[in-house]
Amino acid sequence: MVKRVFYAIVVIVFATQFIPVKKTNPPVDETIALHTDEKVMKILKRSCYDCHSNETHWSIYSDIAPLKFGVVAHVKDGRKALNFSEYEIMDLEIKKARLRRAISTIKLNIMPLSSYLLFHNEAKLSDEDKKILIEWFRNELTRYN
Ligand code: HEC
Repeated sequence: MVKRVFYAIVVIVFATQFIPVKKTNPPVDETIALHTDEKVMKILKRSCYDCHSNETHWSIYSDIAPLKFGVVAHVKDGRKALNFSEYEIMDLEIKKARLRRAISTIKLNIMPLSSYLLFHNEAKLSDEDKKILIEWFRNELTRYN
């Protein structure tokens, strides 16, 4: 019985490998992408860009089911919520709401997603990184208010 269940799982996991997922990196138009000081860009690129830009580095996990389904969904939803590659053409009201949320998600350790940090230790924000990002998001907010 246990053996049968095991074989069934192996077959299912094997079969799901062939389910295609759409991994896209739409071209980046530099005229509408975010450009800001290097210190901030470095942190954003390291900790946020895989899900919040068109410059996603698709890791090995994005090839393996069932993980690939989660990765693709996170990138799709992440870009929809906030895409730094289209930062300059975001609707102003949505942008302000996202900037405000960015501050709280960083403070509450909601972003970067914990499932992502399991595989991307380098994306973890240090206290110093958090300070720099929160200050930057606050400055952006005052720029648009
Ligand atoms: C592993 C992918 C991933 C990473 C890395 C990531 N995010 Fe997200 N983020 C998401 C997803 C998915 C959503 C959409 C959640 C939803 O729709 O409920 C999201 C939503 C957001 C939102 C909108 C939240 C809201 O309630 O409006 C903000 C702001 C945000 N992320 C900021 C960041 C910042 C800042 C970083 C880097 C420090 C970051 N994220 C890193 C996946 C990610």
